[in-house]
Amino acid sequence: MNICIHVLLASRGPPMKSPRVRPHHFNANPNLAREFGIVIGDKDLWGHGYGSEAIRLAIGYGFKRLKLHRIQLIVLDFNKRAHHAYRKVGFVEEGVQRDALLVGGRWHDVIMMGMLKRERKHGR
Ligand SMILES: CC(C)(COP(=O)(O)OP(=O)(O)OC[C@H]1O[C@@H](n2cnc3c(N)ncnc32)[C@H](O)[C@@H]1OP(=O)(O)O)[C@@H](O)C(=O)NCCC(=O)NCCS
Repeated sequence: MNICIHVLLASRGPPMKSPRVRPHHFNANPNLAREFGIVIGDKDLWGHGYGSEAIRLAIGYGFKRLKLHRIQLIVLDFNKRAHHAYRKVGFVEEGVQRDALLVGGRWHDVIMMGMLKRERKHGR
């Protein structure tokens, strides 16, 4: 099962013109651990808190509506913004795959993060 949640900015006009915060994916996995990812396609919209808010909405959907026990993700070591946003909403580091990805001729660590339902912060 793949689920994409598009979170639209209400202040940005009609939905067809503003799918700027998109999408969140929970990827297929038979054991109720689901992988999560997020992309805000328009860089001008970064740094306004939309990412953190969208992550909160998506994990709320995952835990409450999909009744997931656990949500997990990976983030690359150089992606400080995403790493910070994930930590801010309650994801914790669970391990590091060292030099796991070659990007632009340099090896990068892949950080594994996760959140259990019981760790979800109140109100999310
Ligand atoms: C990751 C992404 C969703 C974040 O969205 P956003 O709206 O910019 O996130 P927010 O504004 O809610 O939060 C960003 C946080 O990172 C912080 N931050 C920004 N640059 C940072 C850096 N270089 N180092 C550490 N923290 C940083 C901000 O200060 C903010 O934290 P704060 O609210 O405590 O001040 C967005 O940048 C994006 O779509 N990136 C491209 C796709 C991507 O990398 N996805 C993640 C794949 S794992």
